[in-house]
Amino acid sequence: MAVRSEYHVPVMVDTVLTFLAPKPGGRYVDATVGTGGHAEAILRASAPSGQLLGLDVDSQALALARQRLAPFGARVRLVHGSYVHLSDYLRAQGWADGVDGVLLDLGVSSLQLDRAERGFSFRHDGPLDMRFDPESEGPTAADLVNTLPEAELADLIWRYGEERRARAIARAIVRHRPIHTTGELAQIIARVTRGPRGRHPATRTFQALRIAVNQELRNLEQVLPQAWQALRPGGRLVVIAFHSLEDRLVKHTFRAWAKGCSCPPPPAPCDCAHARPKARVLKPFPAWPTEDEVARNPRARSARVRAIEKLAEEDA
Ligand SMILES: C[S@@+](CC[C@H](N)C(=O)[O-])C[C@H]1O[C@@H](n2cnc3c(N)ncnc32)[C@H](O)[C@@H]1O
Repeated sequence: MAVRSEYHVPVMVDTVLTFLAPKPGGRYVDATVGTGGHAEAILRASAPSGQLLGLDVDSQALALARQRLAPFGARVRLVHGSYVHLSDYLRAQGWADGVDGVLLDLGVSSLQLDRAERGFSFRHDGPLDMRFDPESEGPTAADLVNTLPEAELADLIWRYGEERRARAIARAIVRHRPIHTTGELAQIIARVTRGPRGRHPATRTFQALRIAVNQELRNLEQVLPQAWQALRPGGRLVVIAFHSLEDRLVKHTFRAWAKGCSCPPPPAPCDCAHARPKARVLKPFPAWPTEDEVARNPRARSARVRAIEKLAEEDA
């Protein structure tokens, strides 16, 4: 099938397939289906009878996914909605009794980055928007930049962007308000900081605003237990993260599931309800893209994949 350039290039597809291990007859959820690249690979690998439920909050991306995945017919169902309601969508799909795999690909899609009007990128001048779901009523990046008190703005840029120059950037933003476009904001930031090596000075601030606008960390916290709950024994959850804040959350959550007993060390008797591990982390460290993949698709540069398998009662 010809892949049109407006499709997002999916990252680390082979690694995702190795971890997810799709099989015929299996049920899979791509909770961030985007333009359907990973979904297509999962459907191919689970042919002829694997099924896939794809979710996304971005209806522009879903329209492209619908086009791309049409050849798979009734094996795929796409829904416009947030993965924070995963359990509800599974019930509606008749899959409340469990699925074999869930994929979360947490980054921004090329579709979103490359369309100036979506306001995600400092490379294209557009309105400061950054909502994954442009139909939502939630605040835009312009709302945050133009209304937050300076101290709150600095805190947001520091916390979600891990930006050392957060205070200076917040001060400059407040001095130049109102700011309407990504280009204006990028220029203001570039006057205050040189930014991380080899990256645009606005990289970290844009990441921080995007995380805040879309409440990404809160959403991730909400979806992980639902994805876990949804897995059948032997089912797998695979997460692609693009920055250390979300990766840390995934790592700690997976470790807790795989750890089992959380009681104090002996001699205290163990009365912990989770004395047996409920899960097996498939690889102790995250998988990274190869140099070759990064050369072909620079957006894969900061991707890292973690995966966990739910154990059957008798394995635990
Ligand atoms: C990196 S892209 C996924 C690309 C996809 N794997 C592919 O192969 O085309 C991440 C997607 O997650 C979506 N997204 C972000 N937050 C979401 C949420 N709460 N619920 C559902 N989708 C969300 C974004 O709109 C975006 O399309």
